[in-house]
Amino acid sequence: MTLTSTVTQLTTNQDLDPARLREAFGVFPSGVVAVAAEVDGTLTGLAASSFTSVSLEPPLVSFSVANTSKTWPDLRRAGHLGLTVLADHHSEVCRQLAGPVGSRFDGVPVTTSEDGAVTLDEGLARFECTVYREVEAGDHTIVILELHRVEHSGSALPLVFHRSGFGLSRPA
Ligand SMILES: Cc1cc2nc3c(=O)[nH]c(=O)nc-3n(C[C@H](O)[C@H](O)[C@H](O)COP(=O)(O)O)c2cc1C
Repeated sequence: MTLTSTVTQLTTNQDLDPARLREAFGVFPSGVVAVAAEVDGTLTGLAASSFTSVSLEPPLVSFSVANTSKTWPDLRRAGHLGLTVLADHHSEVCRQLAGPVGSRFDGVPVTTSEDGAVTLDEGLARFECTVYREVEAGDHTIVILELHRVEHSGSALPLVFHRSGFGLSRPA
């Protein structure tokens, strides 16, 4: 079997338009995290599938936030941020965390740390962190976070985001 028989090639600039790129990026499966904090007494946060581990010493992770985000300018002011790796039963919670700001945390059990980091009680892993560095990268900003506290649970499965939906899927 040759490579060209199974892969749609991206060869011209025309092919690199955002819609096609989004589709191509979407073949790579990822988990989803909730990034959240209490800011001025309000639960503030968003869902992000761009989470990745970065470094063990010092302990660093990252996610990318769109420069159009209305939430990040508030969130980045928080002393500490909570990161929660969502579980496979969190698809509705994930949509909620990406939806209207006023109801993102409705009915979602959360814990707020003394420093204001907010994590979801039913998450697979919970991290407490501070912003280590922000790197401008096109229409997103790569946010590198330093971890201060880590907790993870045993047996549940993660929420998987793939081809713009939840769970692994083959192309239609
Ligand atoms: C599965 C999923 C993954 C997402 N991943 C990201 C991400 O990595 N970065 C990002 O900026 N927004 C991501 N979003 C969108 C945000 O959750 C949120 O909707 C967006 O930031 C707009 O809200 P805001 O203006 O309050 O920030 C994702 C949404 C969903 C449903």
